[in-house]
Amino acid sequence: MDEPKFIDIEGVEMVFHTRKGVFHALREIDLTVRKGEFITLIGHSGCGKSTLLNLIAGLLKPTDGVLLCANREIAGPSPERSVVFQNHSLLPWLTCYENIYLGVERVFGKTETRNQLRERTMQALALVGLTAAESKRPHEISGGMKQRVGIARALAMEPKVLLMDEPFGALDALTRAHLQDELLKIVAATKSTVVMVTHDVDEAVLLSDRIVMMSNGPAATIGEIVDVQLERPRDRVALAQDARYTGYRTAVLEFLYRKQAHPAKEAA
Ligand SMILES: Nc1ncnc2c1ncn2[C@@H]1O[C@H](COP(=O)(O)OP(=O)(O)OP(=O)(O)O)[C@@H](O)[C@H]1O
Ligand SMILES: [Mg+2]
Repeated sequence: MDEPKFIDIEGVEMVFHTRKGVFHALREIDLTVRKGEFITLIGHSGCGKSTLLNLIAGLLKPTDGVLLCANREIAGPSPERSVVFQNHSLLPWLTCYENIYLGVERVFGKTETRNQLRERTMQALALVGLTAAESKRPHEISGGMKQRVGIARALAMEPKVLLMDEPFGALDALTRAHLQDELLKIVAATKSTVVMVTHDVDEAVLLSDRIVMMSNGPAATIGEIVDVQLERPRDRVALAQDARYTGYRTAVLEFLYRKQAHPAKEAA
């Protein structure tokens, strides 16, 4: 690992000021992510996973503490850190093709020809199986398809850091498995650093180098971290029988359902 601390989060606190008063969402968040590492964030609904991801994206500023990427303070959003949002965020007046092209143009527009940009866009559409939907607008496609366009857009930008907020949550099991496998291949090829939020324990174990488990809010923090030492490439069918896989899975389930059983009432 050439850069031991690629993303460095130190002493981060996040307090929201709402009409009902202040809400302390995250406290004492310390985390370092190595270059090329695949991190998943897991925890119950409302614990602050999206908030932490948005802080890394530069879409939120911490109330206290500091976030660094490649030794520079994260001061705002950047195409180097592209985001797949929890609620697909496509521009409704653009087609699927145009939504992806926009991101591609932003990153490669100055250095590549229009044909190359078009090629990248078509490759990204093909990757998520949406070639046939290229000229449809977001209101003409399903929720899962919209999510796939968002994933294609983020991947096509070849970011140094890929931030994904439950990217596969709305997909059926087969599409989800296919895209997980594709994501692993892409990440292996591009050596991207990934921070991904998930609710899915199997997904976390299959994809992660480390699983960061968060305690319940308010004032949520990192509870435990599971170091997943399974060699890559990983084969989902073989792993299902692997005792180490089951062990990691059990560790996450223990944390979520014994140590951090979900509070009966939702956080405000
Ligand atoms: N802009 C905001 N203003 C006030 N409170 C907020 C804001 N954003 C998030 N919160 C609160 O912070 C907490 C964490 O929210 P966040 O969206 O990060 O949770 P999450 O872990 O992503 O949940 P889910 O799994 O349901 O997506 C919640 O209690 C939420 O209500
Ligand atoms: Mg969320």
